[in-house]
Amino acid sequence: MLKKPILAGVIGSPVSHSLSPLIHTLWAHRAQIDGYYMPIEVAASYDEFARAMDALRTIGFAGVNVTLPHKENALRYGDKSSELASMTGAANMLTFTDNGSYADNSDVAGFQGALKSTMPKFSVKGACLVLGAGGASRAIITALQNLGADNIFITNRTEEKATQLAERFGLKTLLWQSRKDAVESADLIINTTSLGMSGQPPLDLGGAKIKPGAIVADIVYTPLETPLLKLAREAGNPGVNGLTMLMHQAAPGFRAWFGGDAKVDEGLRTALIGELERRRR
Ligand code: ATR
Repeated sequence: MLKKPILAGVIGSPVSHSLSPLIHTLWAHRAQIDGYYMPIEVAASYDEFARAMDALRTIGFAGVNVTLPHKENALRYGDKSSELASMTGAANMLTFTDNGSYADNSDVAGFQGALKSTMPKFSVKGACLVLGAGGASRAIITALQNLGADNIFITNRTEEKATQLAERFGLKTLLWQSRKDAVESADLIINTTSLGMSGQPPLDLGGAKIKPGAIVADIVYTPLETPLLKLAREAGNPGVNGLTMLMHQAAPGFRAWFGGDAKVDEGLRTALIGELERRRR
């Protein structure tokens, strides 16, 4: 009997900008796996999400990645969930099996993988500053704590959200207004806000000077070099961009659903950069 192609995809709203289909298609092509990974737009309500997931399971999907605004819906939908998904309160992966659905979070591994691949000797000593207190922030904090960080500061425009995360994860908070000072004294700075993304306001750090040797990471990948990463590069500091995190977060899903090798390498990066440039034109 002919083997059926493997089906997977990414659920979001909007979702057409997602680079995940390109990443998975490239890996499937390299591994000569017969499979399809497609972008699927689902309106922002739990009921719509659950109906779509039920339908995909009926069709025989192996699993899906989940992006905004559905990461909390994915955790709620999962019959079971990983410790990481429960800790972050969000899931970006749902795997479907005959025994039910399993919610997981590979954003955590994505950030850890990006740090380690950019700086193989990376270790979390000193002060880590997390800018932003949304869903991405929770995954980054979980990753930092998994890596052993115990001196994490969080700052966010809406103070209450920073306070909530600080209580939940045992962090220290700083006022959004004092982010310049915070940036200047941090050893690792991570932007988890949408500031600096094309079409969004820049991340205003009031002309802050980054400490020599401090590592700067930005979850934003359009543009590839955000003003924050530019600041780091010009100061001679190491930077980790959002594309590196994106590639690393995609690998667990590919391995789970397509069962092949998911290498994060220069070939993949070049293909993604080419696609981003094509879209910009
Ligand atoms: P995600 O799940 O990707 O983290 P989110 O939950 O919408 O998305 O969080 C977006 C983050 O960007 C939040 O920290 C948000 O700050 P608020 O909690 O104050 O909304 C931050 N952000 C978005 N626009 C911002 C702006 N113009 N100035 C400062 N922070 C902003």
